[in-house]
Amino acid sequence: MKIKSILKKKIKKMFFKNNYNKKIKIIIQKNKNIKNGHYQLNNLFNISKIYKTTPKKLAKKILKKNKFDIIKKMEFSKPCFINIFLNKKWIEKSLEKILKNKKFISPIKKKTVVIDYSSPNMAKSMHVGHLRSTIIGDSVSRIMEYIGNKVIRANHIGDWGNQFGMLIAYIKKKNLKISKKISISKIEEIYCQAKKLYDKNKKFLKKTNKYTKKLQKKEKFCYKIWKKIVKLNIKENEKIYKLLNIKLTKKDIFGESFYKKMLKKIVQDLLKRKIATIKNGNIIVFLKNFKNRKGKKMGVILKKKDGSFLYSIIDIACIKYRYEQLKAEIILYYVDSRQKQHLLQIYEISKIAGYIPNNIKVKHHIFGMMLSENNQPFQTRSGNTIKLIELIKKSIKKSKKILKEKNKLISKKKLISLSKIIGIGAIKYADLSKNRKTNYIFNWNQMLSFEGNTSLYIQYTYTRILSILRKYKKNLLNIKNSFKISNNYETILSISILQFEEIIIKSSKKGKPHLLCSYIYQLASKYSNFYEKYNILKEKNKKIRDSRLKISFLVSKILKKGLNLLGIKVSKSI
Ligand code: ARG
Repeated sequence: MKIKSILKKKIKKMFFKNNYNKKIKIIIQKNKNIKNGHYQLNNLFNISKIYKTTPKKLAKKILKKNKFDIIKKMEFSKPCFINIFLNKKWIEKSLEKILKNKKFISPIKKKTVVIDYSSPNMAKSMHVGHLRSTIIGDSVSRIMEYIGNKVIRANHIGDWGNQFGMLIAYIKKKNLKISKKISISKIEEIYCQAKKLYDKNKKFLKKTNKYTKKLQKKEKFCYKIWKKIVKLNIKENEKIYKLLNIKLTKKDIFGESFYKKMLKKIVQDLLKRKIATIKNGNIIVFLKNFKNRKGKKMGVILKKKDGSFLYSIIDIACIKYRYEQLKAEIILYYVDSRQKQHLLQIYEISKIAGYIPNNIKVKHHIFGMMLSENNQPFQTRSGNTIKLIELIKKSIKKSKKILKEKNKLISKKKLISLSKIIGIGAIKYADLSKNRKTNYIFNWNQMLSFEGNTSLYIQYTYTRILSILRKYKKNLLNIKNSFKISNNYETILSISILQFEEIIIKSSKKGKPHLLCSYIYQLASKYSNFYEKYNILKEKNKKIRDSRLKISFLVSKILKKGLNLLGIKVSKSI
């Protein structure tokens, strides 16, 4: 239910009848203190200026005009607000509608959205640094799909750049054998040694560039090794995605190498149209909106003197493909904030070249870092990156301990499945519940707690509701009695149920799953408050009991759906 927009429409009518001036916005907000009304009109002051009167006088005139079934009453509140109380009957009717239609969301204008996320480098295994992009991108994909968009997941794996030149040059130099059975950690070890050499040895750096170019020319030896390593890594990452309940599969891989055939033509086109120039043998685009350190136009290199193509030209081909072939109307990048400038430049060049029109929404959704408790980057003690798989295993292990403490009689089978659900849910929720724009501190105790804004608290509340519903024994959908709100706790809870749609739309628009997290957390807390205060199954008044059961049912549905949109699983019991 889009309560805010319904209220906006009604209030517009009250103020302006049909000659509404588009420039004036009606601003409605949820009220924090429900005693003052469920919602409030925030910009009465601006509206009263149009009428050339005071907010109080205007309110007095307007309040009499309420004849809408959604609003029970409105009150002027100092200095210049109007408090709005929703009508119980309207709330009950709306709940009924949702239950009957089994739908929380009304149709939207469908858009094609490409979401670039996860996108790990293929020369090494996934580490904790990949977590944020992977899970935030995955959740936003689910949310956007749920509201009715066509979502194309794009895993822009790093498989065509210098990192492979480095690997291959090192393999060649040390004459290493890369068998089919080689492990991913061995590859990573080789990569680390290669990188060390690359950073200190100019000769090796040159060799690396040579091999990058050879690979990009598909020279047999290089191409064979490359294929083996990429295949191995994709398989390894598939396991992690599955474990983490990430929807990415092989068909979502549109890696750097996917665009290889487009590169030459695009460079030629940019040169021909004088958008790119050749300087010292490199092919560069100079952008007037970006300045270098000397205050001059910044140059973005597309192709190097040695003939190798760079990350930038691959991304230009990629954005062109997403618009022309995938027909994207919105393109979202869940990529490390350090790539902000790079992505802005790609967008700028693509617009100048006309590869992508102005009305296509391209957004880089940045995210902060995961920090350890001493506010330092989240790493091993020796300063190395932590592998993602290690982090996941640790969380599952910790969850096992917690579950055993809680229930000594838990079966082995249940322990295994539940510890996975809880351990993985905890890592994901801890991350998703923070505003992505900021850094956050990773804290095991906090995220594996039954209290507070954690997945465990929500999963637990969910199972509590299920157990009540189970005890009822009959099919809830057969209940004939309609909703009957009998106290304030139920009113608050019911309004919260109706707000689900609004939150989903907002999370989708901003690409911010933490809004959904705080909503389901609040919904679960409101349910707990209500549950502690009132009986459900033992309630003598059948009408009230039935209504409470139906409310419980809707809350359970939203909690499950909400967690599902975050990519978090639930169990029927904990
Ligand atoms: N592979 C890159 C990395 O590991 C991220 C790619 C992001 N997507 C893109 N279209 N550039 O940093």
